Amino acid sequence: MHGDVIEGKWIDCFTRAFELCKVREGEVAAIVSETQSRRVLVKLAELALLRLKAQAFHIVIPTPPVSAPVPVRSTGHSVAIGQNPAIIKALTTATFVADLTIEGLLHSIERPEILASGTRVFMISNEHPESLERLMPDPALKPKVLKGVAMAKQAKKMRVTSAAGTDLHIDMEGANVGGGCGISDEKSQIDYWPGGLCAFYPRPGGVTGTVVMVAGDINLTFKRYLSDPVHMQIERDCITEIHGPGMDADLMKSYFAAWQDPNAYYTSHLGWGMNPRARWDTLVMFDRNDTNGTEQRAFAGNFLFSTGSNRFANRFTEAHFDLPMRNCTIELDGQIVVEKGNLIPELA
Ligand SMILES: [Fe+2]
Repeated sequence: MHGDVIEGKWIDCFTRAFELCKVREGEVAAIVSETQSRRVLVKLAELALLRLKAQAFHIVIPTPPVSAPVPVRSTGHSVAIGQNPAIIKALTTATFVADLTIEGLLHSIERPEILASGTRVFMISNEHPESLERLMPDPALKPKVLKGVAMAKQAKKMRVTSAAGTDLHIDMEGANVGGGCGISDEKSQIDYWPGGLCAFYPRPGGVTGTVVMVAGDINLTFKRYLSDPVHMQIERDCITEIHGPGMDADLMKSYFAAWQDPNAYYTSHLGWGMNPRARWDTLVMFDRNDTNGTEQRAFAGNFLFSTGSNRFANRFTEAHFDLPMRNCTIELDGQIVVEKGNLIPELA
């Protein structure tokens, strides 16, 4: 593991990433961070924006008090802005926002208002810069992600199966489909680094079936590979049963129960990973504090199942599990898009 001091090569990486986001000379660019944000990332964003001669400025928000009964990790749902109108005004006045909040603004309550102003938001995941360096934004990913998004938008049904026993049926009609390309270069766009994901929020009642996670699948809230199977039964979006022979099921059940919130048990977003350079196996190489697990959401061919909020179904909770799985087959209206964990050539 490298240290987290400023490195010239990382200023180069951030500069290149911002260039791909079309940051230009004289552009008003906000760097929004928290007192607990990873300092090296905040400084690298500043140095890169200055190198591009943007009019960069910082907004630093005190990290809010803990409000949940259990630690919240890797949700993409920052509550740092706290609907503070001064912060929102500053961010909507800028035309580019480098998002260094710990959780990111992707699912934040302020997102619609910020994007409505035309501001583009580039969320830099709370990773060690070594990970960001290895997973530099790649313009070649964008058309593939857009293709996957288009396929998901056209689909009426999605089915996910695996040899382990997953058999999940998702009603795609009326789903809110999006994608992460790793570059935020259009007005009112929010994207994140590292990127590479096709994901959607189904409409209410659209998810039913069985999900079976096995050893090597990942719980990104715990930043941990499973070592035992976990079975989940889902009826109309709600996990009605969860069991397994080992500690992994116990940990998940305990975390769910801690919230004392029925919404915690509902499905959130679903989708699949699109980034061929993102890897399943690198989580093992990092201490938990040095990773946010965004690489494991994005590794090509994973089935990403998640629980918690779905604002398109009017369900809100801070409880969130992102659960990337390997070796699943994903079909859209009977057409395979991921076969046993591998993207079809059209998307790869
Ligand atoms: Fe998520």
